[in-house]
Amino acid sequence: MNKELLTNIMTGCSTLLNELNTPSNRNKRGEVYDLIETLSYSYIRKAFDQLSAETGTDFTHDEIGKTLLDKGFHPNVAKFVQMLIPKLARETRYNNAHHNQEMILNKLKHDFPEANPELQLIEKIGSCLLELLNDKINIIEILFENSSQKLLNDLYHHSIVFNSCNRVIAKSIEAYMSSRRNSKPLTILEIGAGTGATTAAVLPEIPSNSKYMFTDISSFFFTEAKNKFSEFTCVDYLPFNAELSCVEQGVPQTSIDIVIAANVLHATTDISKTLDNAKELLNEGGILIILETTQQLYYIDLMVGLLDGWTKFSDHSIRPSYPLLDENTWLKLLNENGLHGTSLFSQLTPGDILKYHSVFIAINQTG
Ligand SMILES: C[S@@+](CC[C@H](N)C(=O)[O-])C[C@H]1O[C@@H](n2cnc3c(N)ncnc32)[C@H](O)[C@@H]1O
Repeated sequence: MNKELLTNIMTGCSTLLNELNTPSNRNKRGEVYDLIETLSYSYIRKAFDQLSAETGTDFTHDEIGKTLLDKGFHPNVAKFVQMLIPKLARETRYNNAHHNQEMILNKLKHDFPEANPELQLIEKIGSCLLELLNDKINIIEILFENSSQKLLNDLYHHSIVFNSCNRVIAKSIEAYMSSRRNSKPLTILEIGAGTGATTAAVLPEIPSNSKYMFTDISSFFFTEAKNKFSEFTCVDYLPFNAELSCVEQGVPQTSIDIVIAANVLHATTDISKTLDNAKELLNEGGILIILETTQQLYYIDLMVGLLDGWTKFSDHSIRPSYPLLDENTWLKLLNENGLHGTSLFSQLTPGDILKYHSVFIAINQTG
């Protein structure tokens, strides 16, 4: 049954995946995200070179993080630098990018308006990265400029990559519903729903008698979400922490058909424990849908790498030095936690940026 359900979901998503995987879509993504990566690299390289000169510190040093901590830098900054140094040391592709920063920025602005969601953030963060590293500005002030969610909202709702991922998630839910034999109303709980980008893709696809729990660790997002989704009366808004058991948070065990977690699970201390908590919510045959970046990318590091969630992990046997896991490690962990999983993006072409933002579906095997 589990295998059949996964196959049905894969089949249900295949037309959309084929559309996303056409050579013209792949080439377009390739062009846009190559420029985005180049630009992000150039901001990081420039700021690190300036900070190295300012502090008289050798940034190629293996223990640069510890050195920065000893010099009084913020722990998130020390970890951010430490995590980027090995990637920068291996870099061969973008080495001269910082000399062409202005040109790349202009090309993206004028030739690729679809890159605007990322570009707004990259330009704002990149142009004051040195001040961020020196703790003169806090990343929250930039991400939530004037207490607004607009920048993050644009990123998660409208960027080429996350918009595609959210469409695939909505399709997978449609396929799950057509395989479902249970006649009870569908129950969905979304963890870390944030700006509601995944919610917005899913809500129009589910029956109106469903129960949709829009949850986040922070209730900051609820006011805007309530406005955004006011026409959907099936939505409840509640605080929920992925690091805690559902029982402690007023949600009964095994009460949920679908748990969605888009770009959130990496931001927890112990990923296995987090998966246990997610599994505890699911009824037998229920599914966990995960969206996670599965490769270190400069633009993701630049946009979210200074947030507390990025450096929170302490499960060093699984994540020795970086918060993100690759696709195979996710699949292994899901299986070890009694969740029979697959990646919907496994068929995508290696090197395609979309492949590095994987959507996983995992079925609860034991109830
Ligand atoms: C990168 S954002 C996710 C984006 C979201 N899926 C969207 O469409 O906007 C991560 C979200 O997870 C939330 N979060 C962080 N740690 C969490 C935790 N332990 N439990 C639940 N939510 C958490 C944050 O408040 C934030 O809204």
